[in-house]
Amino acid sequence: MFLSRMENHCFLLFVFVFQAIFILILYRSGPSRVFRGFVEAPQVVVVDYSKPHDVYTNLSLFTQAPSEDTMPYCSAQSPVLVGPLTITFKVLPSERMIIKRNPFVQSGGHYRPPHCFARYKSAILVAYRNQEKKLRHLLYYIHPFLQRQQLSYTIYLIQQVGTGSFNRAKLLNVGVREAMKDEEWDCLVLHDIDLVPENDYNLLPYKSFFGGVSALTPEHYMKMNGFPNTYWGDGGENDDIATRIHLAGMKIVRTSPHIGRYRVTDYKEETEIPDPWRRPPSQHNTRKTWKADGMNTLQFRLLSRTKHPLYTKITVDIGYVPPFS
Ligand SMILES: *[C@@H]1O[C@H](CO)[C@@H](O)[C@H](O)[C@H]1NC(C)=O
Repeated sequence: MFLSRMENHCFLLFVFVFQAIFILILYRSGPSRVFRGFVEAPQVVVVDYSKPHDVYTNLSLFTQAPSEDTMPYCSAQSPVLVGPLTITFKVLPSERMIIKRNPFVQSGGHYRPPHCFARYKSAILVAYRNQEKKLRHLLYYIHPFLQRQQLSYTIYLIQQVGTGSFNRAKLLNVGVREAMKDEEWDCLVLHDIDLVPENDYNLLPYKSFFGGVSALTPEHYMKMNGFPNTYWGDGGENDDIATRIHLAGMKIVRTSPHIGRYRVTDYKEETEIPDPWRRPPSQHNTRKTWKADGMNTLQFRLLSRTKHPLYTKITVDIGYVPPFS
């Protein structure tokens, strides 16, 4: 999902992430669904997916520059891009292995290219609760993805405490607020833990679909007053967000409506408490509420902020959580 007037780097990053998702979709779903994707989105560039590469291919070419003083800016186009990537969830990578394969990732899940000055800085924000396996699959792929792009980045996990309804949108608001304290980010990438937030409910061509993976600048995020804080349970917030974007005078550029529609990592045993309750969008009336519900009214209690080897974890009490019905 994407906003127009996006700066180039955000776009490149998005194309890259999109490509990965696209491969995931190819991998996980039958040909008919893929075909529908092409019909709906004829602008998708067809790449030869029969010859994918390992996501870590040639990353070792990026070695430490002898001196910061003589280090050049990164090339506009990364020299190690390969196109289609091999993605599989058959083996659960251990944290130790991921750390080993990403030697330049620093504490807190921060990376900057060792060989050049990054042109852009991205915060990757992931709303999270008890999805350890999905997290490991994501980390195994997302770290090298971003490094291939020669980006400087930090991965943030925003963890909701408690067992009440999940509130992805509010967690992302918290993530943006906290991440902005660290850096002047060029790009915010809002990333689902399993890359796929939606269920089949969203199969119909959706004019205002927004979810899965989104990339936008901090200016855009503030302009739309962030996300609504008042959607509990997964998915219901996406229409609201799409409406905000339009009301803020921006436009979503959708590459393909089927992004984020399929579950990717699917661990039944880990499935969270189902989302039993969510406020119907009709009660929200985004047109009236978007300026009064969002970043400007965000309230939460920061419980901890810890640097793990592969990510920064922000644990937060987001306040009243509606009870399960
Ligand atoms: C990896 O780098 C080597 C040396 O630069 C190059 O010959 C090779 O084509 C690269 N591999 C891929 C898949 O790009």
